Amino acid sequence: MSQSNRNSDRSVPSLQQEIILALAAIATVLLGFGLVTDIRTEGPGTLVLFIGFALSTVAGASALRIARERPMGRKLWAGLLGVLMLLFGLGGALLLLVLLFLAFNGGFGVGGRPLRAQGRRLLPELRVGSDWTRGERPDTSGLDRATRSALETLWLQDAQAEHASIPAFARISWLLAATGAPPNLMERAHQAGLEEIDHARRCFALAAGYGERSHSVRPMPDLLRGIVDVAGDPRVTLAVESLRDGCLLEGFGADMAAAAAVECRDPAVRDLLERIALEERSHAAFSWDLLAWALQAGGEPVRAAVAEAAQGLMRIRRPIATSAQTTILVSAADPRRLREHGRLPDTEWVPLWDKRLAETAARVAGLLHAETEEEKREKREKREKREKRGEAARLNEIV
Ligand SMILES: [Fe+2]
Ligand SMILES: [Fe+2]
Repeated sequence: MSQSNRNSDRSVPSLQQEIILALAAIATVLLGFGLVTDIRTEGPGTLVLFIGFALSTVAGASALRIARERPMGRKLWAGLLGVLMLLFGLGGALLLLVLLFLAFNGGFGVGGRPLRAQGRRLLPELRVGSDWTRGERPDTSGLDRATRSALETLWLQDAQAEHASIPAFARISWLLAATGAPPNLMERAHQAGLEEIDHARRCFALAAGYGERSHSVRPMPDLLRGIVDVAGDPRVTLAVESLRDGCLLEGFGADMAAAAAVECRDPAVRDLLERIALEERSHAAFSWDLLAWALQAGGEPVRAAVAEAAQGLMRIRRPIATSAQTTILVSAADPRRLREHGRLPDTEWVPLWDKRLAETAARVAGLLHAETEEEKREKREKREKREKRGEAARLNEIV
């Protein structure tokens, strides 16, 4: 073999090695950039991370191919590098997908009334912005970086849930209007919506205090479809949703906020928790009144649907304090500080949920029973009237 041919043979793997090193370098820079951005916000962070993982995967596969072509004894380093980069690229991309799913679809936490469309719970996505940030900021002195980061994320989750409650109450108002409901129910639905706006703003303000940056919400085009598509009597929908989302979940939200306020040491956070406890309690009370009205106005179809929903209460999944995503952040935070800033661990949610669930089940059973008693009374009154008419007719015959 000539000298030039030997140089040419060597240049192929050499060129491949340089390309791999270049890809690895670019992937490292992109991953570094992507990791310092926030995947929950609008921006290039997520895309950059995916490109970085993709490049890492390509570089890993190429390194493995080179290792295969090398003679025994020279495979080790190229093979090791290839496997590591391949695992890093594929594993990172998979993890990112899971985190994105959890960040945008999490059903965790409590904070206002859930917003549902076509059986799916909706939450607004986040972006950078300060238009929703209004309220007192917490005192972050003495908090380490990990604890501040966990608190920022947890309060952002609450802000998203509170924000979703606003169109949830708008939807209730829409359905109430569709059924010709009395004005006091309409008024309370709108009052609750206004209070949820305030909750959302204040949660965003707390999160901004912990994270030293503000978040806002992205448009929700999903709200343009399937929100008020109700088949059958809307009073059935209103009654069943009021039981689950208002009486139970907002009632539990009030319980959690009240319990957290007792433990909270930060004045701004405690003020918000007390406010949320009070107002979520009134939202739950509104739902009970709405349910009673729907039972009375809707008759048997509503009663049957509520009885079935009451049977299913125990199957409702308990809201959890942290998602898989926030669990990582929370585990790195100082638990005592979290408690002092209004965040109780999940273990303390369990007894409160059990209590709320039992009380809700007992109260709705009483409501259904009370309705039955009312029907019995009506029947009794009708029977007495018939008997009186019969008695009067007999007296007339005698006379
Ligand atoms: Fe709320
Ligand atoms: Fe609420």
